[in-house]
Amino acid sequence: MGGPSGWPALISLLLVVAILFFCSAISIDEARTQLLMREKMLQLGGQLVLTEQEELANERLMALKKAEVVQAMKIQNFPPSIHFFQAKNLIEKSEVFSILKKMPKGAALHVHDFGILSMNWLVKNVTYRPHCHFCITPKGALKFKFAYPTPPTPMPAECSEWVLLEKYRKEMQNVTEFDYGLLRNFTLMTENPEVDYANQNIVWSKFQSIFFTISGLVHYAPVFRDYIFQALEEFYQDNVLYLELRAMLLPVYELNGTIHNQEWSVRTYREVAYMFAKKHPGFIGIKLIYSDRRLKNVSFIMKSVQTAMMLRATFPRMVAGFDLVGREDTGHTLYDYRKALMIPILQGIKLPYFFHAGETDWQGTSIDRNLLDALILNSTRIGHGFALTKHPAVWADSWKKNIPMEVCPISNQESSSEPDQERDQMFVVVKKPGKN
Ligand SMILES: *[C@@H]1O[C@H](CO)[C@@H](O)[C@H](O)[C@H]1NC(C)=O
Ligand SMILES: *[C@@H]1O[C@H](CO)[C@@H](O)[C@H](O)[C@H]1NC(C)=O
Ligand SMILES: *[C@@H]1O[C@H](CO)[C@@H](O)[C@H](O)[C@H]1NC(C)=O
Ligand SMILES: *[C@@H]1O[C@H](CO)[C@@H](O)[C@H](O)[C@H]1NC(C)=O
Ligand SMILES: *[C@@H]1O[C@H](CO)[C@@H](O)[C@H](O)[C@H]1NC(C)=O
Ligand SMILES: *[C@@H]1O[C@H](CO)[C@@H](O)[C@H](O)[C@H]1NC(C)=O
Ligand SMILES: [Zn+2]
Repeated sequence: MGGPSGWPALISLLLVVAILFFCSAISIDEARTQLLMREKMLQLGGQLVLTEQEELANERLMALKKAEVVQAMKIQNFPPSIHFFQAKNLIEKSEVFSILKKMPKGAALHVHDFGILSMNWLVKNVTYRPHCHFCITPKGALKFKFAYPTPPTPMPAECSEWVLLEKYRKEMQNVTEFDYGLLRNFTLMTENPEVDYANQNIVWSKFQSIFFTISGLVHYAPVFRDYIFQALEEFYQDNVLYLELRAMLLPVYELNGTIHNQEWSVRTYREVAYMFAKKHPGFIGIKLIYSDRRLKNVSFIMKSVQTAMMLRATFPRMVAGFDLVGREDTGHTLYDYRKALMIPILQGIKLPYFFHAGETDWQGTSIDRNLLDALILNSTRIGHGFALTKHPAVWADSWKKNIPMEVCPISNQESSSEPDQERDQMFVVVKKPGKN
């Protein structure tokens, strides 16, 4: 208000307040109702007008939801408030969840090549295939390799001698128990997450050993095809019709040891997705975001940026762009890699970026400042962007530039750097409404 010109307004305001005061029958109820209504309108879909049938469906869904909330309050056990590993079971039993599962999701825009299906399929299908060998590293991690007759014997410092899994299972007392042990090697799930993963280093180390372990299974060429197909199947069951996959395109091998290059992998993704779409009505397809690891030095990343440019030129409809993956708070920052990341623009070539940035609680560090560089480098979307609340200017500019955030609360809870391996974690893309 300020200044004399504000006085008439102030006086009328006082008048209104006085009237309200004397007619206090209006009391606080109406104000509350109004606030609630305003908030309802701000909710996602708050302004949507439902048809009669939608109204009915909504009523049923809300009744189920309220019943679950009431029950949770009664027994004081509410899945969103407990650790995901303990909540997962409860979530899977929830009727609301079973309905959400069937509802259209559109696209999954933040998933990683190694974590796109249920690990149980790897145990029950892949490890039961012929010619599957395993060895155990000095640190106790399992390593797999398909080969015939046997793969070359590893150095003792690297791994034990190869064991043929088929033969090993035959001599075993309790195969169920063994398979369960395998599954535990393939996932982070544990009954006591707070104890088993006392800090970030421990959970990341287990996370990385999972990738190491399943890599030998997934990258066997016949498995690789089925793995992609099976993953799409599981997404399709969740009513996800399009995926953009962060893929490192590591070498895929044949039984005789032949190794395929990255173009082969991209072509295989393309073929499998095409085959899948033919059999599954409504399925749109997949794209790859070629990704390399944050722990590599700048000259390596310069090479992978060039690889990304080459792959995108070769497969323009299949390769969407480039990203850097891995633990954000021990790896290089985007700023460290600026020389590599500026290559495309300096050459006048468009390479869209999809950077993981700012998945951290640390503030004012080089880690949360990844957000600045993601923005400046015109990232098409930002993975996580968890630290955005601490960067209002970046926030405002991302909004202006229409850069969506890929949000995953479970990953953020699990670590403020990101073991987003569990396939069940649903990413939500938060985006400015209106424009596409
Ligand atoms: C594994 O799955 C493939 C299809 O993805 C199927 O053809 C094959 O029979 C399965 N193998 C086993 C051992 O379950
Ligand atoms: C095998 O192990 C599972 C899981 O530990 C157990 O439930 C089952 O009873 C065992 N079966 C036999 C035959 O010992
Ligand atoms: C991983 O597999 C090995 C070999 O079967 C087993 O000894 C070990 O207990 C498993 N690890 C876990 C965490 O269950
Ligand atoms: C290895 O196996 C693949 C797939 O079966 C085959 O295409 C290739 O010709 C084989 N290479 C050699 C050297 O035997
Ligand atoms: C980058 O790392 C590779 C392998 O670790 C090494 O051979 C190379 O010399 C490094 N380059 C620079 C510039 O540090
Ligand atoms: C980002 O986009 C702006 C506006 O289009 C452009 O001026 C700038 O050169 C771009 N920067 C990079 C690194 O792509
Ligand atoms: Zn990620």
